[in-house]
Amino acid sequence: MAKIIDGKAISAQIRAELREEVSKMNTKPGLAVILVGDDLASHTYVRNKKAACEEVGMYSEVHYLPGETTESELLELIEKLNRDEKIHGILVQLPLPAHINESAVIKSIDPGKDVDCFHPYNVGRLTIGEPVFLPCTPAGIMELLSRSGIEVAGKRCVVVGRSNIVGKPIAIMLLHANGTVTVCHSKTKDLAEECRRAEILVSAVGRAGFITADMVSTGAVVIDVGINRGPDGKLCGDVDFAAVEPKASYITPVPGGVGPMTITMLLKNTLVAAKQRV
Ligand code: GUN
Repeated sequence: MAKIIDGKAISAQIRAELREEVSKMNTKPGLAVILVGDDLASHTYVRNKKAACEEVGMYSEVHYLPGETTESELLELIEKLNRDEKIHGILVQLPLPAHINESAVIKSIDPGKDVDCFHPYNVGRLTIGEPVFLPCTPAGIMELLSRSGIEVAGKRCVVVGRSNIVGKPIAIMLLHANGTVTVCHSKTKDLAEECRRAEILVSAVGRAGFITADMVSTGAVVIDVGINRGPDGKLCGDVDFAAVEPKASYITPVPGGVGPMTITMLLKNTLVAAKQRV
């Protein structure tokens, strides 16, 4: 029987800490969120981000732009927010409509306001071990591990998925925590064998039921980053929870594991940005 890592409870604890810190500041940290188009999931995420800011006493504003917005219109808004003194963090919700160059948009954000940690400057700083911001979902995973008393140093860590948002940065952060890290992806030979070597297994694939019990060693820590809809329409992760949970020592549920931590780490980055400004 695994211990369930309660991301909701850990997230609530960190938000209480953030709220306390914000209440003592002279400046109110401010976050601007930009949403282009009408992707339903993105609207939900953005609503949750705004509510989270309110919960910890931060200022936030959401810029809803129509799907036909041009790239130069979007860049113009980002430029304005880069100069706006009450805004310390800028987040452009992804994905963007296909006619907008995502990379150009990310690069246009002032690196000092890049609370997603997507700008190449911040990715570089993270990679050399001198981060200003930590990418939100990977930072959330590291908090879940440390607040559950799970040591990374010396452990065999296997990351499945190599996205810029999760796979690559969590691999770097586990490496900085002295884990022995393997990154697996769609071209990996004998994925099950690689996964079985893991003492800490992180799955960021985005496919329901992808991690089956035969891919997990007894006693492994299993971190599920997936947010998928199962065949029954219910929210689920990448991991076959019912089959894997009895083998694992610790496991994150979906929902209620990594998910709640992502926004909490965004709030933390906004606080870091605001502190740097003063
Ligand atoms: N879309 C899905 N995840 C994220 C995220 O972490 N940040 C942004 N900006 N967009 C996303």
